[in-house]
Amino acid sequence: MSRLSAEAIGTGRLDLEPLRVDHADEMARVPADPALHTFIGGVPDTPQALRSRYERLAKGSPDPAVSWLNWVIRLRAQECLTGTVQATVRTTGQGLVAEIAWVVGSVWQGRGIATEAARGLVGRLARQRVRSVIAHIHPEHHASAAVALAAGLTPTGRWHDGELRWQRSFSRVPTPD
Ligand SMILES: CC(C)(COP(=O)(O)OP(=O)(O)OC[C@H]1O[C@@H](n2cnc3c(N)ncnc32)[C@H](O)[C@@H]1OP(=O)(O)O)[C@@H](O)C(=O)NCCC(=O)NCCS
Repeated sequence: MSRLSAEAIGTGRLDLEPLRVDHADEMARVPADPALHTFIGGVPDTPQALRSRYERLAKGSPDPAVSWLNWVIRLRAQECLTGTVQATVRTTGQGLVAEIAWVVGSVWQGRGIATEAARGLVGRLARQRVRSVIAHIHPEHHASAAVALAAGLTPTGRWHDGELRWQRSFSRVPTPD
């Protein structure tokens, strides 16, 4: 099965641009707040570390059954980057399953950006061959739960590493693009 690739996605206020290595310098200035890592762990990347990470992501997954899709979120009116969304798409016995995640820089939070980006992302995945979209969310991360709910995911009751699995499945028969 051929891999999926990240393509540009436009929403009302946002352009989701497929992540490029040269986004690293601008992105290093966005999620530089340690508070961002309360639920996702780690510490903010230096510009150099971010560039190395983006280089690894751009090479793609070494596993041919897995696609790494990454986007930066550009707020069109302000012409600036505000965060990222990602989808890790795996080939399973039930078809393609995408695990998604989102990060919005602290100064841009509370403006509906993650919600709009997640809806755009899930809508695009649904139009591709993806059968299920999942997200793992810490039970106390209410903002992220609200984003998942707005994107049509619901909690499954299944846990993974202390995080609750949310899921949305698409029942239609997948068709090639
Ligand atoms: C989770 C995150 C992406 C939300 O980004 P955002 O752009 O502020 O989200 P939105 O503005 O779209 O708001 C989403 C919802 O969260 C709510 N919300 C925002 N901040 C909140 C907070 N501190 N506590 C509770 N709810 C909050 C909003 O009211 C909204 O809910 P509503 O639709 O019911 O009104 C952002 O907080 C973040 O990047 N956190 C760190 C990274 C992370 O944990 N990512 C999740 C990995 S899956």
